[in-house]
Amino acid sequence: MLHVAVVGSGPSGCYTAQSLVQQDSETHVDVLDRLPCPYGLVRYGVAPDHEKIKSLQNNLRTVLEHERVRFLGGVQVGPGGVPAARLRELYHAVVYCVGAATDRHLGIPGEDLPGSWSATEFVSWYSAHPDAAADGFVLGARSAVVIGVGNVAVDVTRMLARDPAELSPTDMPQAALTALAASRVTDISMVGRRGPSQARFTTKELRELGTLPDTEVAVDPAELAMDPGYADPSALPAAQRRNVEALRGWAESESQDASRRIRLRFFLRPVELLADGGRVGAVRFERTAPDGQGGVTGTGRYEDIEAQLVLRSVGYRGVPLEGLPFDAAHGTVPHLAGRVLRDGLVAPGEYVAGWIKRGPTGVIGTNRPDAKETVTSLLEDASVLVQKELPGDPLAALRAEGIEPVEWAGWCAIERAEAELGASLGRSVVKLPDWESLLAAARTAAS
Ligand SMILES: Cc1cc2nc3c(=O)[nH]c(=O)nc-3n(C[C@H](O)[C@H](O)[C@H](O)COP(=O)(O)OP(=O)(O)OC[C@H]3O[C@@H](n4cnc5c(N)ncnc54)[C@H](O)[C@@H]3O)c2cc1C
Ligand SMILES: NC(=O)c1ccc[n+]([C@@H]2O[C@H](COP(=O)([O-])OP(=O)(O)OC[C@H]3O[C@@H](n4cnc5c(N)ncnc54)[C@H](OP(=O)(O)O)[C@@H]3O)[C@@H](O)[C@H]2O)c1
Repeated sequence: MLHVAVVGSGPSGCYTAQSLVQQDSETHVDVLDRLPCPYGLVRYGVAPDHEKIKSLQNNLRTVLEHERVRFLGGVQVGPGGVPAARLRELYHAVVYCVGAATDRHLGIPGEDLPGSWSATEFVSWYSAHPDAAADGFVLGARSAVVIGVGNVAVDVTRMLARDPAELSPTDMPQAALTALAASRVTDISMVGRRGPSQARFTTKELRELGTLPDTEVAVDPAELAMDPGYADPSALPAAQRRNVEALRGWAESESQDASRRIRLRFFLRPVELLADGGRVGAVRFERTAPDGQGGVTGTGRYEDIEAQLVLRSVGYRGVPLEGLPFDAAHGTVPHLAGRVLRDGLVAPGEYVAGWIKRGPTGVIGTNRPDAKETVTSLLEDASVLVQKELPGDPLAALRAEGIEPVEWAGWCAIERAEAELGASLGRSVVKLPDWESLLAAARTAAS
């Protein structure tokens, strides 16, 4: 009987567990997560107003409720928790599905000025991640600049522009809802360094910006016309063509009388964040031009866009996990079809799946075939892996070492506490935003 530890309960961890129990009728899986709550970025990344996508948590739930799967929350693998080497002793195999926890940096002057945040910080705040340290994002801001034109940039732009009344039915934490309700941000510029046809957002997400009440979406026709794909959009791949068509619709429409304006800007590369009174006051961009090969070159012309709030949404990045090899250039763990490679050689019994395996791109569903590839490799190795004698039930071993995981009943108690909090606030479910309240709620399961 194969005992596997899956580290991380996001989509890749859940799909790995699912694939393992489906493909092998005897395998037992423990899904460990450093947080007391499961589902990774589906809980702590997917925007709260995307309730349909959020409901994918129900599919992941059925995996964690499988009779041969155990959820062990609140277990950090690495420093301060269970060392990776110890985990290897407790299980026949370990699959790391730890995602990409941090943000990429721009590396330009002024990046760390007060008022400049990574999108990761902003997302963690409105998603009630218990590690979210920051607050006061929108305080005192009238204009915001979002750097980057991927789907996360669209998410944070939409969250800034959404009417708070529309956010109230979501599970977002009360403090974030109150802060956004008091927001005076009326002008949001979302800025790409390349052209519209090279933007990373998807058309469905882009078009949604145009459905926000009392909000105008503005596109500069001159910037659109700079795009080499604009003259003949029919020559573009379908996804890019649809983006360009949506943008053209806005560029050609009359200006509206709306309380909020989203400006979609292109061919502007951030070069510096400018201070005003000790905090960010504007972003300086260099105008770029297409280089004919999908990239851009600088033109030596500059434009400053006023902003008291800057959200840097230029992608996520994997972090090294002590005891595992790491490819610093890509922010991933080197692997061969999911088998971890140490110095170019397969490390027996260690595997990766999801963003830590392939980098921070792809939607939730992308993690399913990715996890399946890893599980196929693991099960090919199973006959060798099961030879190893294990010291007994890993949960008992963890407890003996002073680690008290939040088990499934603890998570269910957190869910109940969030429903009760919602009811007390006249809302539906409202997320608990800090470690203390999450762990206190989990403890009620034991009492
Ligand atoms: C802001 C944002 C919004 C998104 N919105 C959408 C969307 O609307 N639709 C869509 O299809 N896709 C969306 N995506 C993409 C999708 O979330 C990812 O494809 C997916 O979450 C990646 O899965 P993962 O399991 O690799 O990583 P994650 O979901 O990040 O899961 C990693 C898990 O590992 C745990 N972990 C990390 N380190 C440790 C450790 N040392 N010990 C124990 N546990 C650890 C973490 O707590 C986490 O639970 C979004 C991504 C982001 C960043
Ligand atoms: N609703 C959804 O389905 C949804 C929602 C959120 C996220 N996701 C997925 O999650 C993944 C991550 O999304 P993401 O938006 O974080 O990443 P992303 O799609 O990789 O977009 C990153 C953006 O940052 C820009 N950028 C990178 N470095 C820059 C720099 N130094 N200066 C200026 N701009 C820079 C990129 O421009 P270049 O292209 O020029 O490099 C790009 O526009 C994606 O696969 C996304 O589709 C999906």
